[in-house]
Amino acid sequence: MTPPSPVRALRARLLAYYDAHARDLPWRRTRDPYRIWVSEVMLQQTRVAVVTQRYERFLARFPDVASLARASAETVLRGMGRLGYYSRARNLHAAARAVERSPRRRMPESARGLAELPGIGAYTAGAVASIAFGERVPAVDGNAERVLARLLAHGRRKSTAVSEIARALVDCERPGDVNQALMDLGAVVCTARTPRCAACPLGAHCRGRALGAPERFPAKRARPSVAKLDVVFAWIPSGGGVWLERRPLAGLWSGLWQLPAEEGPRARGRLAERLGVDLGRVRVRVHHALTHRSVEARVYVPSDAPHVRRRTLGARSRDPLAAPLSALARKAIVAMRSRAASR
Ligand code: ADE
Repeated sequence: MTPPSPVRALRARLLAYYDAHARDLPWRRTRDPYRIWVSEVMLQQTRVAVVTQRYERFLARFPDVASLARASAETVLRGMGRLGYYSRARNLHAAARAVERSPRRRMPESARGLAELPGIGAYTAGAVASIAFGERVPAVDGNAERVLARLLAHGRRKSTAVSEIARALVDCERPGDVNQALMDLGAVVCTARTPRCAACPLGAHCRGRALGAPERFPAKRARPSVAKLDVVFAWIPSGGGVWLERRPLAGLWSGLWQLPAEEGPRARGRLAERLGVDLGRVRVRVHHALTHRSVEARVYVPSDAPHVRRRTLGARSRDPLAAPLSALARKAIVAMRSRAASR
């Protein structure tokens, strides 16, 4: 397909915009592929402002691939803080170990090589390769995709036309800057609901704008259906601490800790059965909304705590909030604590 206007002109405008208005972000002050990779992993599904707070702390703790690879999975999880999406931390760790095991013990320098590491998809591989190594590969995140879809007045997501123009735009000396200019433009100017077309360097070329309704592009994602999930927790105090258990390594909140729990149909009965005690009545309820699920947890305090079958439990913790908890368990523990404090 022929681009709507010369790619060269679009690229020049993008780069001029970037030179004048690039957001000053910590990961833009380095060419270290490790640091750029960490930023990209953290930025998956987390806002720039939140990542900025966590990023330096993570790097102070794990300044390079080797230190990350040496750390325990637990420490890495904790280092990511409450950024949710813990499979990201696990993949980051696994990828660091894979790099350390590789013959050169260095990160691959191409998008293709990077994409072979655990958890690195086309987007992250493109971002790291273009920003750190200057490889001419696109990295189209949601913001960049919106900019390009509007520019072409293209309704469909994941369209070939969008991929093609992204590829053409980065075929230059500054591919990393082109990619990041598109991300910034989408985040700051070409926003989802109220694009500020008057401030847009691509305005004169934008088909969406010419049609008078840039916000129509790209088409909205179908709203995901939200299923309900019931979780039942047991609060089992013991020796100044409380019992926690680890979630399975697959699925929701994989590998994170929680109060002993069962979930789904008949969760309460199954938990009582496993622990071998009566759960009594509900003490607190907490909710947590995920993209595809609305989770409700009820916390019970078995009256017969000393008789709980210990072998079904994980570990006792004196400071449960310091553990790498699932977001739901964290809410439940906070709610139990504030309930205790207010009594
Ligand atoms: N989102 C993901 N990666 C980014 C980057 N390098 N700059 C700005 N926003 C981003």
